Amino acid sequence: MRILVTGGAGFIGSHIVDQLLADQHEIAVLDNLSTGFRHNVPIDVRFEQADVRDRDAVRRVFADFRPDAICHQAAQMSVSRSVREPSHDADVNVMGLLNVLEQSVAVGVKRFVFASSGGVLYGDVFAPADESHPAQPISPYGISKWVGEQYLQFFAREHGLQTVALRYANVFGPRQNPHGEAGVVAIFCQRMLRREETTINGDGKFDRDYVFVTDVAQANVMALQHNPTATFDAFNVGTAIATDVNVLASELHRTCTAILGRTDATVTIPQPVHGPDRPGDLRSSIVSFGKINTKLGWKPEMQITEGLVETVEWFRIQTDSNH
Ligand SMILES: NC(=O)c1ccc[n+]([C@@H]2O[C@H](COP(=O)([O-])OP(=O)(O)OC[C@H]3O[C@@H](n4cnc5c(N)ncnc54)[C@H](O)[C@@H]3O)[C@@H](O)[C@H]2O)c1
Repeated sequence: MRILVTGGAGFIGSHIVDQLLADQHEIAVLDNLSTGFRHNVPIDVRFEQADVRDRDAVRRVFADFRPDAICHQAAQMSVSRSVREPSHDADVNVMGLLNVLEQSVAVGVKRFVFASSGGVLYGDVFAPADESHPAQPISPYGISKWVGEQYLQFFAREHGLQTVALRYANVFGPRQNPHGEAGVVAIFCQRMLRREETTINGDGKFDRDYVFVTDVAQANVMALQHNPTATFDAFNVGTAIATDVNVLASELHRTCTAILGRTDATVTIPQPVHGPDRPGDLRSSIVSFGKINTKLGWKPEMQITEGLVETVEWFRIQTDSNH
């Protein structure tokens, strides 16, 4: 298949590109490099530096590449920026999505996979939420993901486009940007490897469902390849396992100490400390994966402890090469 991955230079998108290439698909990446990196995409993959908000640029890329399928990962993904600048969020996440959907119809795309979010749609949930859990988005980012899903349904009804929304839990792994706000694993990894102090918000009793990035990429590949029975479907992509931030931080501390300890037996990394609460943080956000398991055969393969080791190893190489 000819597949266009928007946001393919980002954290999740670049892992999707890697897996699609391994499956012999023909790939193009459209990305404006606002948070992604050209070096995340293999050099021989067709790369279009363009903004999804730029209708003419999107039209040109679609007319030229003529994809069969779209994997739409490009987004403004900062919740706090969405609160400060709701119109910017909607520009990228709603108007940008509409440009990509309209051009998909124009060139006869068959299948469209969209990166949605479990956490921001379901709000506080103390048992794994399934896809029928009511959407209660609070932030503009959550609203734009919800609106995105509504547009997918419209394009499915009106144009027969086969659309899938994948509602990710908390994704972690190599290439996550430690400068953003979303990735506690990435932020803590980088700081601990530099032997810097880490701060847990409030009492740290915030349950999250951490899913490894290669598992998320695999869910995208399966969604792109399956023959759907409906023109719209939504699937959670998570592990249904809750890990609180205190447990996560001490596991990361142990892993970083062990990995640095291979070359420096005297290494000491400051223990995480507790800081003020961050207003608005959900207490608990966990999703079930029963539906995607039944319909697409997907399940998470990576245990969190193994995933943390891979992630720390990757950040270690980055930290070393920056010195
Ligand atoms: N990381 C998570 O835990 C998580 C959870 C739920 C949903 N998501 C969604 O997954 C998708 C990928 O997120 P990620 O974690 O890989 O983030 P990321 O920031 O690494 O990737 C986003 C990519 O989109 C590109 N991009 C941003 N705005 C663009 C624009 N206007 N035009 C073209 N390209 C643009 C960026 O340069 C980047 O390469 C996003 O849609 C995000 O909302 C992520």
